[in-house]
Amino acid sequence: MKDLLLVTDLDHTLVGDRQALARLNQTLGTLRSRIHLVYATGRSLAGARQLQQQEGLLEPEGWATGVGSALLWCGEPDLAWDRRLQRHWDRPALAGLLANRSDLILQPASEQTPCKLSYELAEPRTGPAAHQFEQHLRAALQQAGLQAQVVFSSGCQLDLLPPGAGKGAVSGYLQQKLGLRPDQVLCCGDSGNDRSMLGGPWWGVMVSNARPELLAWWRQVRPDTLLRSHHHHGGAILHALETLPLL
Ligand code: GLC
Ligand code: MG
Repeated sequence: MKDLLLVTDLDHTLVGDRQALARLNQTLGTLRSRIHLVYATGRSLAGARQLQQQEGLLEPEGWATGVGSALLWCGEPDLAWDRRLQRHWDRPALAGLLANRSDLILQPASEQTPCKLSYELAEPRTGPAAHQFEQHLRAALQQAGLQAQVVFSSGCQLDLLPPGAGKGAVSGYLQQKLGLRPDQVLCCGDSGNDRSMLGGPWWGVMVSNARPELLAWWRQVRPDTLLRSHHHHGGAILHALETLPLL
């Protein structure tokens, strides 16, 4: 049995510093028999595989794509995970509700999946303006009797996901599926869509180049199990592997 589930975001976390990535790939290569490696990304599977090719990323056991709205495990779609996502999820109704809003621009078809509805904000928002925007949107969904997670990233990206989806939920699902304890899980990220997995009951590492919305959350919550690394990108993941009591 392997000792560690390593779940990492791709853009601006694992990917962004080629030298650090090369060092990390080397370390992971030597530990490969002890680690379940999972990429958890906002990208579609096609987009994530393209990045893998371009950056020379190791082949993981799991791909949690579309912000944890789809899971490929050892090359096969995880059907039990898919079934969970169908609960309380009405994508057409959500899309209908938001169709006429001038402040939301639908992302391209390549970024839409059956369990992910994604928009760009017409005007980027940070700080209190971003918070207020999220609150208003949640209230509008509640008023319409619709359930969805509202995930806001990088000042301008908005994802609506089924209540059971997300990077945190998929990390917890895999932890249990693999029969690991929470302290045998490490999640790594940089932006708003990583918040759910960095706030879980396991280890986390936030890169030094984290986005403002993630930093704002961290300042409020400061989970004991989250390392705020002073290293950026892959260097922060190495930092976590070297300093946290993981292996
Ligand atoms: C990726 C996805 C996009 C999503 C964003 C934030 O960039 O391509 O659809 O909105 O991540 O989760
Ligand atoms: Mg990222």
